Amino acid sequence: MAKGIRKIGVMTSGGDAPGMNAAIRAVARACSYYNVECIGFYRGYQGMIENDYCELNARSVRNIISTGGTILKSARSQDFRTKEGRKKAADNLVALNVDAMVLIGGDGTFKGGEIFSNEYDIPVIGVPGTIDNDIAGTQFTIGYDTALNTVVEAIDKIRDTASSHDRLFFIEVMGRDAGFIALNTGVGAGAEEILIPEENLGLDRMLESLRRSKRSGKNSSIVVVCEGDKIGKNVYELADYVTENLPDYDVRVTVLGHMQRGGSPTCFDRTLASRLCVKAVEMLLDGERDIMVGLINNQVVGTSLKEGIKSGHGINKELLRISDILSV
Ligand code: F6P
Repeated sequence: MAKGIRKIGVMTSGGDAPGMNAAIRAVARACSYYNVECIGFYRGYQGMIENDYCELNARSVRNIISTGGTILKSARSQDFRTKEGRKKAADNLVALNVDAMVLIGGDGTFKGGEIFSNEYDIPVIGVPGTIDNDIAGTQFTIGYDTALNTVVEAIDKIRDTASSHDRLFFIEVMGRDAGFIALNTGVGAGAEEILIPEENLGLDRMLESLRRSKRSGKNSSIVVVCEGDKIGKNVYELADYVTENLPDYDVRVTVLGHMQRGGSPTCFDRTLASRLCVKAVEMLLDGERDIMVGLINNQVVGTSLKEGIKSGHGINKELLRISDILSV
């Protein structure tokens, strides 16, 4: 055990993701196992600045492994972007004798953590928790698998209406600038078209594909659109464009929105959170710092925070080809 690590703080920051509670539980229980104190800060960096925290122990995290959201709440702290904010947070950690932090969140959380640990001598380990799956240092982020299943279930339901009314649905899914959710749910739900920011195939291609669908006898269609799609039109403008150009189609739009972030985490996300967070605590105790933990080829590995947030781990564009073949 590294000398000096007697108390570890944990927080959740950025958009909440299913499995964050499983992650908090794993940090608290691993601390308890290794006889280290644990405290949780509310609302991410904001709680560190405002000294808003609670003591965590093995029993205080009972029965949260199955719940969505985060018992520590989450926020995107503007104050932490300022030097004064970060100083307040560092002063509070020192006063509370917190020796190291586990930061659960996405790339914004990791960027903040990297700046913070460079400015102050407080080791941090990042744990990737976001439905977007857009972190380079891991093939899977906590919450992504649950979001995929939530979205596929929703699209299946919309498909019922699409097919009963012979309609074309544009369904917008989350992911910010990353198309992981759109691409994988598009294939998983059998969408006719998938629009992602990583591959701008153009509007003409989409129209042609929809014409082909009609000619081949399809009565209903689903187009999954990533919210950050770069085709030049938002999902409502896309719907209008198709209505103007293909008047035979009865077009509707569904924006799935924040329901994608809720719900009980899947077994995969609970297990992922458990594995990553035990490793995060063990790394801190071994004297490691400024690293994110991630799952690569089913191994828990550490990547420097800098590398981890550089850019996503590359979308599997092969899935677009698969989708094309299967939506014939
Ligand atoms: O990063 C998670 C995420 O849900 C993105 O997919 C989305 O773009 C964003 O957060 C929405 O943020 P907010 O909850 O602030 O609307």
